[in-house]
Amino acid sequence: MKITFKANYNVSIFLICAFLGQILLYGQQDVQTSNRINKTQSSMSDDTEAKIEEILKKLTLEEKVAMCHAQSKFSTKGVERLGIPEIWMSDGPHGVRAEISWDDWSDAGWTNDSITAFPALTCLAASFNPELSSQFGFALGEEARYRKKDVLLGPGVNIYRTPLNGRNFEYMGEDPFLASTMVVPYIKGVQENGVAACVKHYALNNQEHNRFTINVEASDRALYEIYLPAFKAAVKEAGVWSVMGAYNKFRGQHTTHHELLNKILKTDWEFDGVVISDWNSTHDTMEAALNGLDMEMGTGTDGLGANIANHYDYYFLANPFLKKLKSGEIPESVVDDKVRRILRLMFRTNLSANRPLGKANNKEHHDVAREVGTEGIVLLKNEDNFFPIEDKKGLIIAVIGENATRSMTKGGGSSELKPKFEISPIEGIKARFKNATILHTMGYESGAFNYDKVLPPTMNQDSLRLAAMETAKKADIVLFVGGLNKNHWQDCESDDRQQFGLPFGQEKLLNDIHKVNKNIGVILISGNAVEMPWLDKVNALVETWYLGSMAGHSIADVISGDVNPSGKLPFTFPAKLEDNGAHYFGEKSYPGVDMTQHYKDDILVGYRWHDTKKIKPLYAFGYGLSYTSFSLSEIEIDKKEYTLEDSINISCTVTNTGAKGGSEVVQVYIGKPKSTVKRALKELKGFQKTNLKSGEDSSVKINIPVSSLAFYDESISNWNLEKGDYIVYVGNASDNISKKITITVK
Ligand code: BGC
Repeated sequence: MKITFKANYNVSIFLICAFLGQILLYGQQDVQTSNRINKTQSSMSDDTEAKIEEILKKLTLEEKVAMCHAQSKFSTKGVERLGIPEIWMSDGPHGVRAEISWDDWSDAGWTNDSITAFPALTCLAASFNPELSSQFGFALGEEARYRKKDVLLGPGVNIYRTPLNGRNFEYMGEDPFLASTMVVPYIKGVQENGVAACVKHYALNNQEHNRFTINVEASDRALYEIYLPAFKAAVKEAGVWSVMGAYNKFRGQHTTHHELLNKILKTDWEFDGVVISDWNSTHDTMEAALNGLDMEMGTGTDGLGANIANHYDYYFLANPFLKKLKSGEIPESVVDDKVRRILRLMFRTNLSANRPLGKANNKEHHDVAREVGTEGIVLLKNEDNFFPIEDKKGLIIAVIGENATRSMTKGGGSSELKPKFEISPIEGIKARFKNATILHTMGYESGAFNYDKVLPPTMNQDSLRLAAMETAKKADIVLFVGGLNKNHWQDCESDDRQQFGLPFGQEKLLNDIHKVNKNIGVILISGNAVEMPWLDKVNALVETWYLGSMAGHSIADVISGDVNPSGKLPFTFPAKLEDNGAHYFGEKSYPGVDMTQHYKDDILVGYRWHDTKKIKPLYAFGYGLSYTSFSLSEIEIDKKEYTLEDSINISCTVTNTGAKGGSEVVQVYIGKPKSTVKRALKELKGFQKTNLKSGEDSSVKINIPVSSLAFYDESISNWNLEKGDYIVYVGNASDNISKKITITVK
């Protein structure tokens, strides 16, 4: 079959710029980017659409229905007699998951399915670097292709609403503009490989606690302004080929078969791909059939054959669907639309003649993983230039904490990985600090990993703590490597965290270490904000996320100063939990009462809440330190007055005023004082990362369409762009604004 690729010159130019930028900014040749195939397929050609219609005519009703639901945990049936292939899917957002058994969640036991584990998406978002996101997506797509996957179940773009959400680490933070900007190049990168990205979980899946049953009540403004934009960007700008529904309900109806699909996703945004259910999120045949779900996955498959009630044929979109089609209760056009979409996905993936070959575990992928890690790490505190640490003879470094050795690719839920290797923090530190003496002790133990269960620790915690104090006494420097992990009730799917503070006695341990050694730097490994009553006892703090295969190397790159940190927080760290907008309103808002929760924080999520309510965060959205210093000067805009169709052009000079090369992120926020509706003080509307040598300066230009200042007006069910004055805020963090400029929209 002949497939026509539509050349996308914007993508080509983007990739060329990314490639050149990479050489200029980092002085390294990126072989991978240069080898990329500069074409993507956004809409299908008429030729292909005609072929889809031909195939449709040849399919029996039974064959059509069989294509709309799972045949195993991660695949759907093909049509053998017509050469239509099966579809194979795999998690997930930061690496291709190991093979799972046909009917249950156990590891299939393959020995050729280990891969590169890339950093989790909080880290990618913290890089504020869309070019890097493109490289990430492309490398991940190559691995998925190598593993013969047609659909990669990621990325996740649910908005960070509460720091307790167990899955925040899989997502791209609290800001819809940041998540939208970072997700688009990721998706394009994955799909260049002829592998469909599946953006998830649509929508309002912002907590794991009671995730199958919780009913979310949120306003249209919160929906359109906060929770949907990243999905919209995935569809409209990246041309994503599949979307995954979510477990939760919205306004009383399950989101996997909700009007959010037909009305918003498929009609307003003209999504022409496949809506896939989350695994076991389908609940009703009529709703699934009529409300826009195309493919049902994961509905109670455990024990296939042993328990007939769970058999794939008994899925809501299997025999019950067929029966209703045969009786005429559901018109055949309904299944035809689903199959058309599924065939379209196939022509983009496993029926595409031009699909490139994949690659896995190659040096380029490891380099991407390492670079995303180093660019996403956020330096939060650095008194007396604690970091970088110079590797020298005679220096004794005590590395204390379970996370120095614990695997962070195991656990966490569906995003768990089986990497070919995983460099732990201690391995990375030892490899980099060859002259210094490295001492190591656990300090605390959290218990082995077990999905949906907390296993108790097996070692004596007091002995571990005392041993840590003894080790700390002998050292010049203590590096405390702690935080959360991928266990149940930590950063893990299926439930939320139970406490905002550090678990497993780490707060006491830090206090006790401080009694014997005052020179402490904390390497915080987490996908979430934590409470820090111990902060004034430590000299330095670096948030290093979950970094995958190259974790230890990325951490060592930053703490040694080989790489100057440039990550910025993609979400706010509140000082205490009640300072967060979702928690401020009590249980009705989070985690819900009687299985319903009201998003009373509404549009004021994250820094929008802190800014507007004047609640000082511990660390603000967009904040992150460097080993050098930057100044922003000559901050100007091109005009004072704009029309609705204009763009606001902001220019500014960034100067590296310190002694080391490094990168800074210029951030532009815009707010509307005197609005007719409630508005956040300011919202991120543009950003740009620039790399500068010591003493160098550069002019940064950021272009913001005036149309992006609109709010969602519930009285007209549409976007409304108010005229009048707006304030443009330019700075390098949401709480560090160098200049405010008032503009007028006429
Ligand atoms: C998760 C999805 C995942 C799916 C398949 C579900 O429990 O919510 O994100 O893709 O399982 O593993």
